[in-house]
This record gives sequence, structure tokens and C-alpha cells, in this order.
Amino acid sequence: MDPELLLNVADYARAARAKLPKDVFDYYEGGALDEITLGENSAGWEKLKLYYRVLGGVGPRDMSTTVLGQRISMPIIVAPTAFHKLACEQGEIAMARAAKAAGTLFILSSLSNIAMESVFAAGGSPRWFQLYIYKDRPITLELVKRAEAAGAEGIVLTVDAPGLGTRHRDTRNNFRLSDGLSVENLAPVGKGDFPEVKGSGLAAYVRTNFKEDLGFDDLDWLCGSTRLPVVVKGVCRGDDARRAVEHGAKAVIVSNHGGRQLDTAPATCDALPYVIDATGDLCEIYVDGGIRRGSDVLKAIALGARAVLVGRAVLWGLCVAGEQGAFQVLEILRCELDEAMLLCGCTKLTDIDESLLQPCAVNRESLKR
Ligand code: LAC
Repeated sequence: MDPELLLNVADYARAARAKLPKDVFDYYEGGALDEITLGENSAGWEKLKLYYRVLGGVGPRDMSTTVLGQRISMPIIVAPTAFHKLACEQGEIAMARAAKAAGTLFILSSLSNIAMESVFAAGGSPRWFQLYIYKDRPITLELVKRAEAAGAEGIVLTVDAPGLGTRHRDTRNNFRLSDGLSVENLAPVGKGDFPEVKGSGLAAYVRTNFKEDLGFDDLDWLCGSTRLPVVVKGVCRGDDARRAVEHGAKAVIVSNHGGRQLDTAPATCDALPYVIDATGDLCEIYVDGGIRRGSDVLKAIALGARAVLVGRAVLWGLCVAGEQGAFQVLEILRCELDEAMLLCGCTKLTDIDESLLQPCAVNRESLKR
């Protein structure tokens, strides 16, 4: 498809669907069970209306910010999605380079098709490493130590996947990695391949290897095992977010795993305000799930998020045109956020507040005085 005609995330999604083998597109696009949360994630942002301000004298916008002290050019972070060599030959290296070119943070999934050492060397800073806790504690510790040595500047602990949410698309497709691809970070310890089963090979891999009885003691263990800041990803409740901070988390990501875990979990835009109320004064809060427009990013910030993560949106760019495609999607979102800030009367991110999401009633009596 002519890149000139790929004007937004939806265009890239359509182009990716047209290009990818069905099982690969289904793996990236799919959600758990009836895919209710998958749909509600993006619908939730669309439902939020923007009560824009006028005559604000908005000049050039500044959307730069920091996450855990690391400066990024915009509040849009590349989420830790898995198996990027299903998308393009350069895989996670292409995605890391796209994030670097866009001046933002790249979070590498444990389940990457290229080893972390190669990806982090190619992409550069800022870069964090996403971790699943394996049943085998020494294997998990080795992943953390390798990430530290490879230059990771943060560890993102995914806590909403003690087991994999059932995705019927993958079951029907007997989802597995293409020949020659593996879970490269775990290959050295013999856990690079999916079990040979009927149905989803990934579901069998997670069942075999991930610690099911994940607890706050595991968060304590991780925070005591690394010098890096630990970010907890996959929270939808204020009490869990607060406990995560009490157990050492330096930031929290409100996420339902892109609707791929517990179906009928709340849309992240609905969960975010509760986490902000409970924890926003203690740590930075990020959010992912259904971000498809720059205005969705503005709405997330208006609700109190410091930044958003994008998964599928930037994956579609990777699928369509590798590093350049992923970069283009990030730039589309940047431009859309810039336009939304201008039209809302916001010069910088701190101008974006919750009043933009609410009708502004003025007490007429107060006007008479
Ligand atoms: C998934 C896991 C691997 O959602 O993050 O597929």
C-alpha cells in the first residue's frame, strides 16, 4: 500500500491485516475470550469528550516529559509486545531503532525473538526490560542480571499474566512461532521453544514456565534483586497499585494487557482514575490499552497519566514497513497529539487537566457579582 495513503493507525492496521499471514495478524490483534475488553479499551477513549479551551494564545507546543527521570520527546512509549520477528525480519531491533529515532522509551519484552543484548545495543537509551517471573527463580534472576548488564535502565514486571488469557483465535490457528524463531532470551536455558501441543503453543509455554502463584513477595524479591527501578504493569485497582508502591514499585502501568488476559476487565480509561486517586501522589502512573489517536493520549494525561504505552498501533507500523513504519506511526501519534493540544488550548503537558474532560458549568450568580 502506498505509504502516502497511510495517514493514521487504522490505515496501518488495515495494511497489516492485508500483508500478514492470518495466524500472525490474529495473534497480534486478538483478545481474550469474547474480546469485550479489547473493544472497550479503544471505545472508552473515544467516548471521552474534549471540552476545549479557546483564546489561550497557544504558541509552539512542548510535549516532552520524563519517565523515572529519563527524558522523552513525547508522552508515548513503545509497549513490550512479543515476537517482533513475526512482523518483520529485523524484529525488535527495528522497533528499538524506531523508538530511538522518535526520541522515546522502548520497553523490550522478555519474549522477544532477538536476544536483549543485541536489541539494547542497536537501539540505545532510554530502554527498559519487561520481565515475567518464571517458575525457575534462578532463570528469572539471570534475565534480570543480563538486562542490567545489557544496559536496561528499568525493569517492568508484568503482573496480570500468572496464566495466559485464552485467545480463541490462537487456539483455532494452533498458534506457534514460525520456523527458525524462538524466545531468544530463554534459549540459553532451554526454554526458547513452545511445547508441541494442539492449540496455542504460547498458552502451553506460559502454563509450563510462568509462576502461577505470583505474589507481592515476588515483587519484594525482584526489588531486592536489582539496582534498577521496578515498574509494575497490569494493574486496574487502586489498592493493588498502592500495595505495589509499598512493596517497592517506582511506577505503575494501568493495563489489562490489551484485552488479552481477563475478558470483561474494565477499559483502562475507566480504571485509571481510581489508580491515580490511590497512588498518583506516590509515583508516576502510565497507561496502555486502545490508544489509537493522539487525542487518546491527551485524554489519558487529562485523567492523570504521565505517559501512555502503545502496543498494537506501533506493531502495525512494524508489520507494514519495519523500522520506518513503526517510526511513522509514532510520528503520526505525535502530530495528532500536537494538534489536539493546539485545539484544546494547551501549550505544554501540564496545561492538560481533567477539566478538559468535563462540561464547564458556571454559576450565573457568581457572574453577577
Ligand atoms: C501476549 C503476551 C506474550 O499477550 O504478552 O501475547
